[in-house]
Amino acid sequence: MSFLKEINRRRTFGIISHPDAGKTTLTEKLLLFGGAIQEAGAVKSNKIKKGATSDFMEIERQRGISVATSVLAFEYNGIKINILDTPGHKDFAEDTFRTLTAVDSVIVVIDVAKGVEEQTEKLVEVCRMRNIPMIVFINKMDREGKDAFDLLDEIEQKLGLKVVPLSFPIGMGYDFKGIYNIWEKNINLFSGDNRKDIEETIEISDLSSPELNKLVGEKAANTLREEIELVDGIYPHFNKEDYLNGKQQPVFFGSALNNFGVRELLDCFVDIAPKPRSKNSEERLVKPEEDQFSGFVFKIHANMDPNHRNRLAFIKIVSGEFKRNTPYLHVRLNKKMKFSSPNAFFAEKKEIVDISYPGDIVGLQDTGSFKIGDTLTEGEILNYKGVPSFSPEHFRYINNADPMKAKQLYKGIDQLMDEGVAQLFTLDLNGRKVIGTVGALQYEVIQYRLEHEYGAKCTYENLNVHKACWVETNDKKSTEFKEFLRVKQRFLAKDKQNQLVFLADSMFSLQMTQQKYPNITFHMTSEFE
Ligand code: G4P
Repeated sequence: MSFLKEINRRRTFGIISHPDAGKTTLTEKLLLFGGAIQEAGAVKSNKIKKGATSDFMEIERQRGISVATSVLAFEYNGIKINILDTPGHKDFAEDTFRTLTAVDSVIVVIDVAKGVEEQTEKLVEVCRMRNIPMIVFINKMDREGKDAFDLLDEIEQKLGLKVVPLSFPIGMGYDFKGIYNIWEKNINLFSGDNRKDIEETIEISDLSSPELNKLVGEKAANTLREEIELVDGIYPHFNKEDYLNGKQQPVFFGSALNNFGVRELLDCFVDIAPKPRSKNSEERLVKPEEDQFSGFVFKIHANMDPNHRNRLAFIKIVSGEFKRNTPYLHVRLNKKMKFSSPNAFFAEKKEIVDISYPGDIVGLQDTGSFKIGDTLTEGEILNYKGVPSFSPEHFRYINNADPMKAKQLYKGIDQLMDEGVAQLFTLDLNGRKVIGTVGALQYEVIQYRLEHEYGAKCTYENLNVHKACWVETNDKKSTEFKEFLRVKQRFLAKDKQNQLVFLADSMFSLQMTQQKYPNITFHMTSEFE
């Protein structure tokens, strides 16, 4: 198959949702359609149920054995689909943000009863800011939930989306009869008893046909006719360009658990979802069809087995072909590297591959050369943008609890930070190290991993910081900036890239500082134009 055909047949996306909305279930049903797995239960949930460290460790251990859950790939109707795993737990939101830099589109799963939840809001906002094309799947239609129109309103208001229903439910919960597929203009009926089977699709090209009354009963048929008329009147028609530019979002209804409405979603997805997209680097826009290979690291996964300390760096291929045993330039280190066993991912396994294409993810064995955001090329100096750090929510001093193991501790901290587990700040005043995280859970994870993987012990000490802000100034020599450095010295630190960071101890002090130093900009992310 030609290079261009290989690119055009790839769809790389992520499923985002608040925990429990049905992401794992939906993923599994998609894989079943692709014939990639034979039975339900094959996809491991990445859910941290009780918010306990033990859950996290268990998940990580399983992944260490089979990293397949990080990327699930399968073929459907000649299309190669790559699903990137995005943790729903809020403590791992940053992991998900970074993964979103590697997807070309997303599917947002919403629970019909719970509506728009907190994590959905945060993740959709990130996608909206980057104009990532989104399809919404409203799940659990077999349960009582919110009225479809109310929910569509809620999605528009809370998520700031412009929805276009491409399917519509006939009833809900106990009365759920099926789905009218606006996209394909047919009806899919839900079988009452064993609710697990997929019914035959019935073609109804004309909603006024009396056949509809026979199928779902007169009352439901009339309600559906009215509702579809309303949909027609209220919502814009589907426009592929608008969807691809992030200006409108198609919506599907269904029940993942019952495998209902999933095929419709998948068929539409492969039809409309974008093929691998061009990506901006600091230097220029890079197109997938360019013949020179380039890619970037969006995730690093540690092997939790202390006997095999290797890590796996996940590279998204942006352009050209990635080939085994070919020397590529590690841009940050300015060093050529060859990879003898790059992994490609399939539903339940990973395999060594000779060649991969734009849109694909390859896993490279790494002994510590890679950091999140690193770029590989055939020689050109390119630095991919868009893998920023966000201000952490929690801050603690980290102390060495075993003086004999100082070296191990620093090595461990260094590597865990490169993996993106948390962020390290070094105070200007006294050189003390501060760990910043998105959630409290990460502190336990770091402690556990330092001990089990590096043989080092640490303790933490509280530190009152509200936000870390990356400091930008046009004039480092100005009196204003010099005064800022002097007055705020106690609150200044460097991040791991040696960028200057202001650790504001409250919202109020941040606002005061902004007022007092109007020519200094305080950014909430590490990357800015
Ligand atoms: P997540 O990955 O988004 O966190 O959600 P997951 O798929 O694990 O689903 C969360 C719960 O919702 C699961 O039940 C799952 O069976 C259920 N679920 C998913 N889709 C549907 C649906 O269409 N209808 C109904 N009624 N339930 C659905 P659980 O009891 O929490 O998990 P389990 O113990 O059954 O695995």
